[in-house]
Amino acid sequence: MTTVNGYVQSDNEKKLDILNLPSLEDEAKKIIPTGGFGYISGGSEDEWTMRENIKAFNHVQIVPRSLTNIEKPSTATSVFGIDLKTPIMMAPAAAQGLAHSQGEKDTAKGMAEAGALMSQSTYSSTTIADTAAAGNGAPQFFQLYMSKDWDFNESMLDEAVKSGAKGIILTTDATVDGYREADLINHFQFPIPMANLAKFSEGDGQGKGIMEIYAAAAQKISPDDVARIADYTKLPVIVKGIQSPEDALLAIGAGAQGIYVSNHGGRQLNGGPAAFDVLHDIAKAVNHKVPVIFDSGVRRGSHVFKALASGADLVALARPVIYGLALGGAQGVTSVINHLNHELEIDMQLAGTPTIEAVKKAKLIQK
Ligand code: FNR
Ligand code: LAC
Repeated sequence: MTTVNGYVQSDNEKKLDILNLPSLEDEAKKIIPTGGFGYISGGSEDEWTMRENIKAFNHVQIVPRSLTNIEKPSTATSVFGIDLKTPIMMAPAAAQGLAHSQGEKDTAKGMAEAGALMSQSTYSSTTIADTAAAGNGAPQFFQLYMSKDWDFNESMLDEAVKSGAKGIILTTDATVDGYREADLINHFQFPIPMANLAKFSEGDGQGKGIMEIYAAAAQKISPDDVARIADYTKLPVIVKGIQSPEDALLAIGAGAQGIYVSNHGGRQLNGGPAAFDVLHDIAKAVNHKVPVIFDSGVRRGSHVFKALASGADLVALARPVIYGLALGGAQGVTSVINHLNHELEIDMQLAGTPTIEAVKKAKLIQK
């Protein structure tokens, strides 16, 4: 264990023997300090949307095909010109030093080992360069929380381009912080600095709550910002937090080269729909013009399968990976991705879909 400003961080580095992803939360709760765990696990208000995110996958069923003469299905895929072993990716998540002393460096290492796409947050515990280096050349996206100060934005984007980021995720659903009751109950303030903020007047986040951090960020984000970031970085801009077909088309019209369907894991607007329930109509409107990423509530191989069959090209998750980070460091992260991918492989075999492209064409029925 490592202690920073009185906050105890895990130093675990071990392969995990995982029964299922949901069981990781109780295990991680035993080693992540109360304030950090509440921040990671919590949603907004009464957490209705957070719970619906997981239940929503039961709204559709997979129609399996038999006599398909398949064996050893492959989860390999290629999106944004990036070849991957799996369509499962890391959602951008802030402050992973709350889970482990190595923070996002171990997450990047673990994702690289799993052959999966990593994304890193503006509000990471480790710098853009250090997180990229830890991935040792494996593909990563950088997620930007736009500041009101474009010097900050351009500095982050310069770092991201220099680090070899394959794309910029622009998060648009967190212009203010969702009402996070766990953080209020715990009087949670970040005990560990956000490495990327250290050199800016906004301060490095240490000793602040997420509400204050967000207040310093930009509340006003428009399609013009999508165009500006695309023009500035010459990288694909993927707009995260899309929950309507209209906004997907608005983003694409502004130059977005990826659509990221998400409700922030139920941490932002409570009372909004489960992210899975809006995925199909958004993907239909996008109509393969650009790749679609999906997250919020993904816990099972069948969730990944259903998201792919509903129009996603990549399927992301955060909390289970962070729990794996706490429990096993980089090896724990790899264990989580490999376990979820193993569930997906079983589902693919039983559904008669030998490839990810076949999964995308699989038939789903509504209950
Ligand atoms: C997040 N999320 C997030 N999103 C983002 O765009 N930038 C960020 O910095 C963060 N930070 C963050 C921290 C923590 C602790 C969590 C749990 C989540 C949201 C994240 O990218 C994703 O949308 C949801 O977490 C997906 O839901 P699950 O898989 O965590 O249920
Ligand atoms: C959160 C922010 C950092 O969900 O995205 O906590």
